[in-house]
Amino acid sequence: MRLKNRLVMAPMETLQAESGLMSSKQMKYYLERARGGVGLVIVEAAGVSSNITMFEGAGLRLCDDSYIPALQRFTKQFHSEGDESKLAIQLAHVLLEPGFDMFAVNTRQGKRPCDLSLEEINHIIDDFANATIRARQAGFDAVEYHMAHYNTVADFLSKGFNTREDEYGQVTEGRARLACEIVKRAREKIGHNFPLICRISGDEYTVKGNTLRQTRIIAQMLEGAGSDAIHVSGGGRLEDGGVRSYSFFRQVPTYDFPDGLNMHLAEGIKKVVSIPVIAVGKIGDPATAEEVLVQGKADLVALGRALLADAAFARKAAEGRSKEIQRCMWCNDCVRLLARKQPVVCTRGALSIFAKKGKKSVRKRIPSQNS
Ligand SMILES: Cc1cc2nc3c(=O)[nH]c(=O)nc-3n(C[C@H](O)[C@H](O)[C@H](O)COP(=O)(O)O)c2cc1C
Ligand code: SF4
Repeated sequence: MRLKNRLVMAPMETLQAESGLMSSKQMKYYLERARGGVGLVIVEAAGVSSNITMFEGAGLRLCDDSYIPALQRFTKQFHSEGDESKLAIQLAHVLLEPGFDMFAVNTRQGKRPCDLSLEEINHIIDDFANATIRARQAGFDAVEYHMAHYNTVADFLSKGFNTREDEYGQVTEGRARLACEIVKRAREKIGHNFPLICRISGDEYTVKGNTLRQTRIIAQMLEGAGSDAIHVSGGGRLEDGGVRSYSFFRQVPTYDFPDGLNMHLAEGIKKVVSIPVIAVGKIGDPATAEEVLVQGKADLVALGRALLADAAFARKAAEGRSKEIQRCMWCNDCVRLLARKQPVVCTRGALSIFAKKGKKSVRKRIPSQNS
């Protein structure tokens, strides 16, 4: 797959699907980002299993064929009007209960890897492989497997969370077995001409969690299994404090974290694999993105909230109009909306603590951090 540039839109739940189907609002939102100039758009997580709903009807699904036609309409429009951007969809599975509370601290609602039978594991692998076929039928150019943060595959990869004592646990190679079997089974079914991207947390930022020491091995195993690229996120685990945990903040860092805080993870993985590596995490201006590429830390740079804040980020950067970019303030209001299971939009700090306290001077200072 050839991309027109090295900027990728990171997958972000919008919670604007209707009964699991892509809504016209979502179509417009993704099309705007494509016209805004990014080379690859990765559509938010879509659930691969019918008994698992990420965010009930508001989350996308690709767990059976009935979800294909709405996505087909979308991909057709995207490919004709999307300014030659390529289009992937993220495929995901969670063990969390549908009504899970993301604010819950030190609790885990739902199953753990050690609760699953071999038959259930086999079902998950099949579900990912079948959803991959559906994604291609729906007209996507690629898929990304969600193996990061608090997803089922990440739960299995996790050194601290996966306590299984069989071949799907115990050692890094065992914990990576599920991830590799998903890639292998999908590859067997779909052949070699369809890109499969794997998204992992390069470091879980939890006590006893994976660090680069384990994730380098996992990335190499995924490459061996047939993955075409590794997308390196960080943190996102919920067990140490829900969405208020340090791990979660490493996934969606606020203004008080340094820019590009997870780039060393992409760099660490890039050193041990030969497939393209995508870096992500608090990249809010074109100069920081360029630096990551020039320094050879990653092959592609993914932007999440920066594209929520300004759909035309890439176009403005390419046209030398960087100063016109509406910068993300890293206030995480969008994440708060997600945690409350409300439609995700960029509020630019309207819900945040600064707005409530009326500390406008602080809010004004935030965007200038990056300049
Ligand atoms: C509202 C919101 C929803 C997200 N949903 C997903 C998701 O569906 N899948 C995923 O892998 N990451 C998800 N993420 C994480 C982003 O893909 C990205 O890794 C993170 O926001 C850090 O990148 P940024 O600093 O450029 O925003 C989400 C982030 C936000 C803010
Ligand atoms: S709500 Fe805040 S963190 Fe989210 S995209 Fe907008 S400015 Fe960035």
